[in-house]
Amino acid sequence: MSYIYEALLRAERERQSNPPTVEEQRPDLQEEISVGPRIEETPAALPEIPLYSWNPFVPSFPTLAKHGRALEQFRSLRSHIYQARNETPLKTILICSGMPSEGKSFVAANLAVSLARNSNNRILLIDGDLRRPSLNHMLGAPNEIGLSDFLTGAAELHAVMQRSKASDAEGNNDLQDLANVTFIPTGSQHENASELINNGRIKDLIARASNFFDWILIDSPPALVFADAVDLARAADAVLLVVRGAQTTYDVAQRAKSSFVNSRILGVVLNDIKNPPRRESYYNSYYYGYGYGKRESAADLASKAKQEKE
Ligand SMILES: Nc1ncnc2c1ncn2[C@@H]1O[C@H](COP(=O)(O)OP(=O)(O)OP(=O)(O)O)[C@@H](O)[C@H]1O
Ligand SMILES: [Mg+2]
Repeated sequence: MSYIYEALLRAERERQSNPPTVEEQRPDLQEEISVGPRIEETPAALPEIPLYSWNPFVPSFPTLAKHGRALEQFRSLRSHIYQARNETPLKTILICSGMPSEGKSFVAANLAVSLARNSNNRILLIDGDLRRPSLNHMLGAPNEIGLSDFLTGAAELHAVMQRSKASDAEGNNDLQDLANVTFIPTGSQHENASELINNGRIKDLIARASNFFDWILIDSPPALVFADAVDLARAADAVLLVVRGAQTTYDVAQRAKSSFVNSRILGVVLNDIKNPPRRESYYNSYYYGYGYGKRESAADLASKAKQEKE
């Protein structure tokens, strides 16, 4: 039986035994409650972090828009995540999928912006895909030093983090929403990715960074192509799986989920779905149906990744 189907059955049983609370009926209220002051978890003051003028690739960031369907869909994903945190402590989330090009980086980056737009959340976004750095391209951010440099022991934590200036040279403050996002790009070492991810220092990084941030999001390589994803998941509190409409097969989704038997799976993001399922039927999955433009062929990317592995 599929994971999503199991989750739906479970949700239905829970719904029947527990009628929805006022907060569940009014997600906005739930969100307000969830993001209320959490004094015991107030993060420590951030150390000095280098500021850069990021130049985000705007079409990849529907969450930077003032309004729109995409904004709402990421808000809804954010609400589900707050709700999950109310049930069990949650700070570090690995965003993963089975195969390349299913939207992991897209979801990670936009979820980071969405969380950053809400309240004064402090977000750390980490590009954990050492083989195929992409978040630096999306953000228009430098990638001279980053995660790999910390993992080799060549750089300290604060040196590999970066933030964006809130306004550009012309005083245009469209980047205000990125000001609460701190970013760790992949950095200079792209050899020996598996050894680096597996050397134990990623846990050290998360433990230290946890003092400063409300949320830590890690963009992952595809779980069915590289073992790094499972190693990264061990350092995270939970995994958010992404599947892509008209692309991810049932078998790939199942195998991706099975890769994380020892991790808490938060849910499944149904990315780029043209025809969403009825609302009551996707309790444990988050629909994100926004789509635009032309995209790279997943088959090409998968075959490139396979060759790289060999
Ligand atoms: N919902 C969407 N609507 C429109 N474009 C999307 C959507 N999701 C992803 N894309 C685009 O599809 C391409 C692949 O997405 P992305 O890079 O996020 O995938 P990925 O799973 O991180 O791939 P990889 O495993 O290679 O890192 C990107 O150009 C991205 O902007
Ligand atoms: Mg990616």
